[in-house]
Amino acid sequence: MSDAIISGMEEENRSRPLIYAHRGASALAPENTLAAFLLAQRLGADGIELDVMLTADKQLIVIHDDTVDRTTNGHGKVAEMPLAALRELDAGSYFGEAFRGEKLPTLSEVYEALGGKLRINVELKNYAHPLDALTSHVIRLTEKFHLEDSVLLSSFNPLNLSRAHMQNPQIKLGLLTNPSNRRMQGSLGRIFPYDALHPYYTDVSAEMVARLHASHKQVNTYTIDAPDDLLRMRAYGVDGVFCNNPANALAVFEGET
Ligand code: G3P
Ligand code: CA
Repeated sequence: MSDAIISGMEEENRSRPLIYAHRGASALAPENTLAAFLLAQRLGADGIELDVMLTADKQLIVIHDDTVDRTTNGHGKVAEMPLAALRELDAGSYFGEAFRGEKLPTLSEVYEALGGKLRINVELKNYAHPLDALTSHVIRLTEKFHLEDSVLLSSFNPLNLSRAHMQNPQIKLGLLTNPSNRRMQGSLGRIFPYDALHPYYTDVSAEMVARLHASHKQVNTYTIDAPDDLLRMRAYGVDGVFCNNPANALAVFEGET
């Protein structure tokens, strides 16, 4: 993998937005598993997006929901379960028999497998526990793996971004917004440190992208798989798109669909 691919958030001249596989190639494999992340790499994604939270024993586990109920064969709140119990769960069968036995990965395992090979967007998912130590644990692990230039931290909770900036200003930050907290895109958002805005795609316009680029901020938008939407985001000049099927997004941008 060339240095250019992992060199982080520098402004580059690209003919298309970077493709981040949302929760891995989650249209084709169980979300937030190594199977989904490795498939995203095989399909040509530029990066992966994942969700991380703390276990009861303060380990970094990759999962989207506050409970394990939807994506595993277990029940309960992630924050109340120790890592050993979470690792016993089957995180693949809900998606399909071919994935039976897939585990919930630790962030360390993902870094081990793909660190330095793809961009990794880590969403800090401590919305139920906004004062926990998730941000500092993620930063310490990112430093341990020397991935400061290819990991992008994001969160809907801007306090996580302030904490991250204080702990390591080198690591790039994305401020997530959605239509219901759109005010974070205005003056309120400007008091928090971030390098990229991560808005829901229906909030994106050419004017928004131009305004943020003029402030040297990037725009990565989620979650898009429809060809028309992907092409419109490219026309607006966004820097990255989060999609569930990176092969589809690549084909759209290469004019094959
Ligand atoms: O990073 C964009 C997206 O992942 C945020 O929404 O719910 O899929 O984590 P969600
Ligand atoms: Ca996410």
